[in-house]
Amino acid sequence: MSGPSLKKQDAHSSIHEAALNEAKELRSLFYKCLKDGEKEKALQVAEIVIEHWESRTLKHAESEEEGLYKELVEENADLNHLVIKLTRDHDLMRRMVEQMKELLIKNEMDERMIALLDSLIIVDSIHNEDEMNKLLASNE
Ligand SMILES: [Fe+2]
Ligand SMILES: [Fe+2]
Repeated sequence: MSGPSLKKQDAHSSIHEAALNEAKELRSLFYKCLKDGEKEKALQVAEIVIEHWESRTLKHAESEEEGLYKELVEENADLNHLVIKLTRDHDLMRRMVEQMKELLIKNEMDERMIALLDSLIIVDSIHNEDEMNKLLASNE
């Protein structure tokens, strides 16, 4: 979804909610595998977790940067500073996903994955609040 639909708070917010809820469920599933010492299953879930973050939140971020953010800044140059900050949040999430991939490649499934997943969920939640309350609030 891009363009006009991402400008609508309701539609945009439900994309965030759906992705974040799934991310939280996958985090719980991964945590359970670790706790139960199920190494093989933890690796499989980690692959799904990474695929989830890439195909949902990072794809969404990319389409915002290519569409929504540019359009809003064209309409109102005052939003440029906010858009730079929101893009930095996207970059942080991209780098955390890269770190998860490195752990996966090295077969290092441990509490560092949990730390990264929790960080992603926290950064994404704050980021989503700012998109709704600061970026789109003035747009309704
Ligand atoms: Fe975003
Ligand atoms: Fe968004």
